[in-house]
Amino acid sequence: MLKIMSVFGTRPEAIKLAPVIKELQQHPSTIKSIVAVTAQHRQMLDSVLNVFAIQPDHDLNIMKNNQGLSDITCEVLKSIEAIYEQEQPDLVLVQGDTTTVFAASLAAYYQRIPVGHVEAGLRSHNKHHPFPEEINRCLTSVMAHLHFTPTHDAKTNLLNEGVREDTIYVTGNTVIDALLDVAARDFKFDNDLLNDIKGRMVLITAHRRENFGKPFNDICDAIITLAHKYPNITFVYPVHLNPNVRNVVYPLLGNISNIILIEPLEYVSFVHLMKRAYIILTDSGGIQEEAPSINKPVLILREVTERPEAVRAGIAKLVGTYPTSIITETTRLLEDTKEYTRMTHIPNPFGDGHAAQRIVALIKHKLIQNKDTVTKKSSNVCAENRR
Ligand code: UD1
Ligand code: UDP
Repeated sequence: MLKIMSVFGTRPEAIKLAPVIKELQQHPSTIKSIVAVTAQHRQMLDSVLNVFAIQPDHDLNIMKNNQGLSDITCEVLKSIEAIYEQEQPDLVLVQGDTTTVFAASLAAYYQRIPVGHVEAGLRSHNKHHPFPEEINRCLTSVMAHLHFTPTHDAKTNLLNEGVREDTIYVTGNTVIDALLDVAARDFKFDNDLLNDIKGRMVLITAHRRENFGKPFNDICDAIITLAHKYPNITFVYPVHLNPNVRNVVYPLLGNISNIILIEPLEYVSFVHLMKRAYIILTDSGGIQEEAPSINKPVLILREVTERPEAVRAGIAKLVGTYPTSIITETTRLLEDTKEYTRMTHIPNPFGDGHAAQRIVALIKHKLIQNKDTVTKKSSNVCAENRR
């Protein structure tokens, strides 16, 4: 029996690991699936656990209000150790680039437990954008034994860093599995403000640490200008629970009649809100991947992206955080129907909804049939991963 421990802490990790956990549970004769949450996010994590009916076996409950990066790193590192010691998993699975991912991988490395990294290989090639995610994922790649990349671009990034080709698997992104599951569910918004929206709607999310300060104020200025320019369009912004976001967004955008500020939505509602949107403005990673699957143009509120596939395909545009650029590109999409139609007819480059099945099949194959390559407590766990 293989013991696979999925470790995660935030909303996007939970959404993207949920399909993998569900698939691990489909193999009870060969796999024992264990779920450990750090709860780097509390409410936003619990909401996803609820949507996908996942019951954690271990909950480290580390979140503190306005936590710092060192707080998260130290808390995860210290508290996950005992769980690893108790469970002795054959593989720790992590997803993405949060501080939970980096610290849970480091703790596994310290105990010589192999790490499987889902959504491996994304790179912006700029260590401050996004911050600290670019460094979190680079460091995780150095420690991981199995790299499940969403795209061929991501595989190339790992090869360029010297990762051995026979440890890299292009699987598609598991967020598409989650999205297709949820988008098919019956649904009505609890909030009548959302049910009653008439006409076109622009959906906004923004939460990145590197945008705190002036960039965030600039994004809000652009939204204010757009809301005044287009009084018949509704702008909906589910505001992230990070106080650094809320303390800026509520005072600046709170009193404009066609801007609706709401609490973060649970995943099913959010997916249906994306489907209802005309355009999405976001600095989120996951939303850049989801929007093309539901044919929504995305304007990315960042200077660089580690997901160039959608920009290259033409369904997403990098607009940065300067108001003029955000206003110009949003106006273009609202007024130029030809450009809008062109952007909405592009296939999703991130996956086909079967990534989780591929990942679990590969884990079984690698761990059962190829124990020489990924061996628990191997004497040379790092070296075997690099060329
Ligand atoms: C984190 C990740 C980021 C990811 C994002 C997804 C790091 C460093 N950052 O950023 O990569 O894109 O999650 O949303 O790993 N809070 C709550 N309740 C919650 C969640 C957050 O109150 O359920 C508040 C707390 O005050 C918390 C703060 O938000 O201290 C920041 O949370 P944190 O996880 O440190 O950063 P995020 O900006 O959420
Ligand atoms: N999301 C959600 N509710 C919201 C906003 C976003 O469920 O109110 C989902 C979204 O569909 C995507 C994920 O959360 O799957 C993205 O999370 P976030 O933007 O917080 O993090 P990132 O992807 O940037 O790391």
